Order: sequence, then C-alpha cells, then structure tokens
Amino acid sequence: MLLLLACRAAAASPEGIVIRFSHVVADDTPKGIAARAFKRIAESRSNGRIRVEVYPRSTLFDDNDEILALQMGAVEIVAPSLSKFGKIGFPSFELFDLPFLFRDTEEVHRIMRGPVGRQLLADLNRQQILGLGYLDNGFKQMSANRPLLRRSDYAGLRMRIQPSRIIAAQMIALGAQAVPLALSETRLALSTRVVDGTENPLSNFVTQGIHEVQSHLSLTQHGYLGYAVVTSQRFWQQLKPADRELLEGAMHEAIEIGNNVASAHERRALDVIHAWKETHVHRPSEAQRSELEAAMRPVYERAKTRIGARLLEQTLHELSEARLRRRP
Ligand code: LMR
Repeated sequence: MLLLLACRAAAASPEGIVIRFSHVVADDTPKGIAARAFKRIAESRSNGRIRVEVYPRSTLFDDNDEILALQMGAVEIVAPSLSKFGKIGFPSFELFDLPFLFRDTEEVHRIMRGPVGRQLLADLNRQQILGLGYLDNGFKQMSANRPLLRRSDYAGLRMRIQPSRIIAAQMIALGAQAVPLALSETRLALSTRVVDGTENPLSNFVTQGIHEVQSHLSLTQHGYLGYAVVTSQRFWQQLKPADRELLEGAMHEAIEIGNNVASAHERRALDVIHAWKETHVHRPSEAQRSELEAAMRPVYERAKTRIGARLLEQTLHELSEARLRRRP
C-alpha cells in the first residue's frame, strides 16, 4: 500500500501541486480543524493551483506508519503527536510527555517557541523531515472502569498508551502496565477488555467514542498532548520559493485556528460526556493530584537518560524563571 501510494506522483502534477495531509483523529478536533483550515487557506491563496487532500481518522495511514509514509513520499504532510517521535529516533520529543511538567498551555508555548522547541524541530532534519510548527490538543485525562484518583487505583491495570517511553514509565510508576497501541485500535481494545484504561485529551475521548466504553473518567490533567506538523525535505525542496512562503503562511494561520479552538473543544467534549450519563466524571482533590504527582516523580530520573539531562535542566530552568516573572 505504502509503495503503491508513493508511486502515485501526486506531489507535483502537470496541473499544479497536490498535498496529501494524513492524520489519525476526527475532523472535529483541533488537529482536524487545523488540517481543513490549511486546505482552505492554501487552496484559496493559490487560486486552486495547490490542492490539499485531507485524510482524517487513519483512513490512509495509522500512527504506526504515517511518518514512514511521509519519508517514502506517500503523503506530503502529517502531524503526529509529539509522543510518537521518540520511536523514530527523536527521544527528546518525549520531554512534552513528562507528567505535571506544565501548568498550562502558556507554559507549553514558552518552551515550544523558545530555544528548546526550536532545536527539537531543527533536529528532525537528520531524517529529512522539516518541522512546520507545533499544534496543541490539550491536557490529558485518565479513564478506566473505575475512578483513577489515587496511586492505588492504578494497581495492575493495563493502560493503553502512545509509543512513548516516558508515558510507559509514568504508568509503571503508578503501578499499572503500559500497552502501546495505535489510536485506531484503542476503542476496540478497551471494549473487549484487552486493555483496561487509557489517557487522552477529552476531544479525542469523545470523537473516538472512548467514553462509551469506559465507565469512569478522572480529570487528572496530568500531562500535555500536542503535535508537530511536518513535511519531507524532498517534497519541500521541489517547491518554488513563493509556494513555500504561501504554504508556510497558510500553515501558520491554520495552527492558530487549531490552537484557538482547542479549549472550547475541551469544554464541549466534557458536556458530551456529562450528557452521556453512563460515564462517571471525577475531579481529583488537590491532595489526590499531589499524590499522583509524587507517585510519578521517578519518571524525571528516567527522563535524564531518555531526553537528556541538559535539555531537561534547561526546560525546568526556563519554566521556573517564567513562573517567577508571572508572580503578581
Ligand atoms: C493518541 O492517543 O494516539 C493520540 O492522541 C493521537 C492524536 O493524534 O491525537
């Protein structure tokens, strides 16, 4: 399938440029909305000379093969979650998976837009990948068929995770087992009890129907989930400078649009889950969140080797400086 698609020379047809943008979530999520906004802006600014085909919900590739598909020229743009870059040789991206690292998206953006975030995107060049920008989803919550508010609640649970060693270490620190699975397989794995629980921002819970197969949702807000929007150097270098500029501008605006809807989507998704009634929603107390945070603390030790002690220190330093400046 990959090879067949790669052979279809879609990137530069005689009539113009075709860009295939493949992703694994629903249209009605921050990433889906950003992808469609990119299509709209790029097509209208190029008067239709550039055509963007958006393939949502793993219809073309799932998260196990989308980056390979990009490298082989079978698609031109993908936006994997930051947790999926470690597996292909960029473990430092797992920095963003660290539990309780960021207090809010303002802090996340500070790191993404500063030297750390810029360096991570630049590193992708090693594998002929070009980073076009970062995009938000939001903060993750936990689900299972029981509340997950205290460390002891996680004992022995099989938790579906993305393929990130830092997220695996987080689940192990809680006393659970970590089971990496593609997003497209997650709902079925939960409904058939192959796994017991999972974590994700609420927009993914709702658009994947995960709340329908989990009786308890715990609003732990324990970690961030976002994306790097990437293209391949080979494709990019084929484009005329004016088209690169047009596409960069379109992506920049599309990312703004995606980021701006993220928190409204979060609130809407929570309303949907409340209305569903069969899923009990729990909000941990401050003491319960502190207990979870303390239980996950050993993950920072693991991060020194996985992410690099210098990068970790630099991030912690930037965050603490920013917190001092933000104090009233
Ligand atoms: C996942 O759980 O695999 C995701 O959050 C994927 C995504 O792209 O949001």
